[in-house]
Amino acid sequence: MKRVFSGVQPSGSLTIGNYLGALRHFTRLQYEADCYFCVVDLHALTVPQDPEELYQNTLNTARLFVACGVDPKQATIFVQSHVPAHTTLSWLMECNTYYGELRRMTQFKDKAAKHDVVTAGLFTYPALMAADILLYQTDEVPVGEDQRQHLELTRDIAMRMNNRFGPLFKVPEPYIAPKTAGGRIMSLQNPAEKMSKSSDDPRSYIALLDPPDVVRKKIRSAVTDSGREIRYDPEEKPALSNLLVIYSLATGESIDSLEERYRNSGYGQFKADLAEAVVELLAPIQERFRELSEPGVIENILAEGADRAERVAAETLARVQAAMGLVPRHAAAVSSSRQETRAPSSIT
Ligand code: TYM
Repeated sequence: MKRVFSGVQPSGSLTIGNYLGALRHFTRLQYEADCYFCVVDLHALTVPQDPEELYQNTLNTARLFVACGVDPKQATIFVQSHVPAHTTLSWLMECNTYYGELRRMTQFKDKAAKHDVVTAGLFTYPALMAADILLYQTDEVPVGEDQRQHLELTRDIAMRMNNRFGPLFKVPEPYIAPKTAGGRIMSLQNPAEKMSKSSDDPRSYIALLDPPDVVRKKIRSAVTDSGREIRYDPEEKPALSNLLVIYSLATGESIDSLEERYRNSGYGQFKADLAEAVVELLAPIQERFRELSEPGVIENILAEGADRAERVAAETLARVQAAMGLVPRHAAAVSSSRQETRAPSSIT
């Protein structure tokens, strides 16, 4: 069975960008593959976090996985810091990743420009991400377009280490939807920037937990382009094209059909209908989220998920450590881990 891994940072309230670009695919892939969906709390720490907020955001992100339709019986849901193999493998990745490669990462350059203090963790972030993915011998990684470069680096590190130490890792494939299918949802205030949960301007994103009136207000105040025509044209009409993509994905109606339906309407009607479509999309998610807020519910799901994830992660980690020449702690483990340095033949 195919293996799928993806992660989401608990660095704010998840947005419809996260849902349309990633979470929506999790809910489908869980029936086709052995899926691991991770709340990557350690990645969130690469920029300053308020500890209490991080704590709540971590639990809420996991609740939103389930509220959006990820079934904990079908997929493994867990928190990154609960499985220490991620940080251990991350160091081994860092020692096989080049300074020049990390320096070229556009997300690092963007984030570094936004913060006064740039931590070492922000710089080595992609090595931890590679560890997340490679620990699980992942075939496919469903993410938004903004993660493509990190995925390419992950593949390069995997191939490099396989060449150097023998076949240790599967080389994962990105699973990225085209722009019209939600691969890159843009900010409501600036269509040149992606919608982001860590933006300082809440009007730029729709959070999955925004109440209906807030959704209506944000869509009403979304920027539009000159002219009145409702037409998909990312070059000439980037703001409206983004709204058309959101509308189409929220309702399942094609962009062509929406253009036809709004041929004689102005932006006002279009935006009012779009707001109702988004409110309807979010209503069942918000309802399930409330049910999951009972104390202990999400904590139990995460405890079980961490146990399952740890078993898979431990196998890969032991094999990598042995292949790189690290001496196992217990003499008894020496012989068994030495025998396991050869990866199963299914790994390419
Ligand atoms: P993060 O937390 O920023 O976003 C989570 C997922 O949502 C996607 N996404 C979007 N998709 C479309 N339009 C948008 N505006 C938009 N904004 C976000 C992201 O592409 C992502 O799929 N580095 C990752 C987290 C991570 C990870 C991993 C992902 C850590 N380890 C291993 C996959 C595999 C990140 O910051 O995602």
